[in-house]
Amino acid sequence: MIKIAHISDTHVTTEPAFKGYAYDLIINEINSADFDLVIHTGDVTNQGLREEYEHASYLLSRIKKPLIIIPGNHDSKNVGYELFEKYIGPLNGVYEKEDLIVIWVDSTIPDLNDGRVGGYKFKWLKEKLEEYSHKKFKIVAVHHHLVPLPDTGRERNVLFNAGDVLDLLLKHDVDLYVCGHKHVPNVYNVEGLIVDNAGCTSCRKTRKGDVNSYNIIKIHDDGRVEVTIRRVTSEEVRKDFQIRRQRLFIPKGKRLFRIVHLSESNVSDRVYFRRRVLENAIRSINEKYKPDIVIHCGDVVDAGIERYYEVAHEYFEKIKGERLIVPGHNDISYIGYDLFREHFGEPKPFEKDDFVFIPINTAQYETQIGVVGRVGQRLLREMLEEYREKFTIVVMHHNVVPIPNVREIGFLEDAGNVLNTLVSKRADLVLTGHGGNALGIKIENTPIINAGSISWELHRNPFGNSFNVIDIYSGMIFAFEVQATWGARKLLGIWKIKTEVPWK
Ligand SMILES: [Fe+2]
Ligand SMILES: [Fe+2]
Repeated sequence: MIKIAHISDTHVTTEPAFKGYAYDLIINEINSADFDLVIHTGDVTNQGLREEYEHASYLLSRIKKPLIIIPGNHDSKNVGYELFEKYIGPLNGVYEKEDLIVIWVDSTIPDLNDGRVGGYKFKWLKEKLEEYSHKKFKIVAVHHHLVPLPDTGRERNVLFNAGDVLDLLLKHDVDLYVCGHKHVPNVYNVEGLIVDNAGCTSCRKTRKGDVNSYNIIKIHDDGRVEVTIRRVTSEEVRKDFQIRRQRLFIPKGKRLFRIVHLSESNVSDRVYFRRRVLENAIRSINEKYKPDIVIHCGDVVDAGIERYYEVAHEYFEKIKGERLIVPGHNDISYIGYDLFREHFGEPKPFEKDDFVFIPINTAQYETQIGVVGRVGQRLLREMLEEYREKFTIVVMHHNVVPIPNVREIGFLEDAGNVLNTLVSKRADLVLTGHGGNALGIKIENTPIINAGSISWELHRNPFGNSFNVIDIYSGMIFAFEVQATWGARKLLGIWKIKTEVPWK
């Protein structure tokens, strides 16, 4: 077994923001236990100042275990990244011990709170993951968070290229991503990757009245991983994981439901709107895929004007059977808010057999950033409770997980809390449609699928314009992407789900 203490955000400073007693308590506890390694995921200092680094290097020298330290945004303030190298150690690096590899990457941007793994570092990380691909257990450590966290207020500072980084880690079978930054402890299973956020070890700035904490990671030889959030009050929260093994599932039994999931038609007379591609896709949906329902996750039109809505309405009248359309930010621009309701109606929950679709309007005027809001979150929670016995499918435009090839500015501003609600209330499936790229990813027990663009040339999908086909079998969801022009298919994900009704 390997036992790791994960500390973060010590924010060492001469100001009262630094809580020396919390630091002492945690470090003494770590020193007296049998840890093999300590990982500090950044914000060692509060302002990146020389006096802070001097004091921090003394405090860190009291940790009597092998120690890996990653720079945080606060460490890079005031050109502190130069001092980090002088007083603490390398900004990026690799730690190797038997079956374990830890690769750490500097995600800071001088004087900004945002993070990114820039082009050179991304390439370096990829090379290292390839070089150490034979290792049984792989950890990547970065200061900034990778998926939105609950209880952090407005969602911001996720890595700008979180979608690309997440994609890279999943492709290279990384087992654990450790990070800090938001001062909120949290652990999620993201498609088999354990995303471990430490809270803050010794900074006054905790959230929601929380206390200081650190995380304990135990990696067992049989592939079990335990992550425990340990607070200075001795309160503990433990979650257990199993390192994933590659398995292929084959759908069995009768298909229960088929969804065609599309987004960003952006109907307009602009050159970027590919009319023929949309017509062809609608034809193949009607004739080949014959779904039980078609879900359009927003940006039906490129601008909220009458002329575009009339054309869009005509297109969607051609789709046979049930349709559910939620608005995107383009749809409600100009007078689109009224036109959307006039042409497509107010999106309402839709029930069919054991399935219920819950539409959420996340669009705001004149911004790409979405919001559910505190009242909306409460209503979502209530609906997921109300329909607990059904298979619940939440439908909205904006993203709650990062998408590759996108700079993360189009998230919900309350993505962290919304994601937490979806996951903790066990939504069975979440469909989104922002960002112009398709993706399927399971967070805890909830698969989340994003649709690329079906007919807008300005997308970010190397596969081209596409729509998704999602088949639900008893015990399994099988999702694939269909290239809108050629009909080629690509797998988005196969996930096991709780079998039999009731679903949970
Ligand atoms: Fe911090
Ligand atoms: Fe930070």
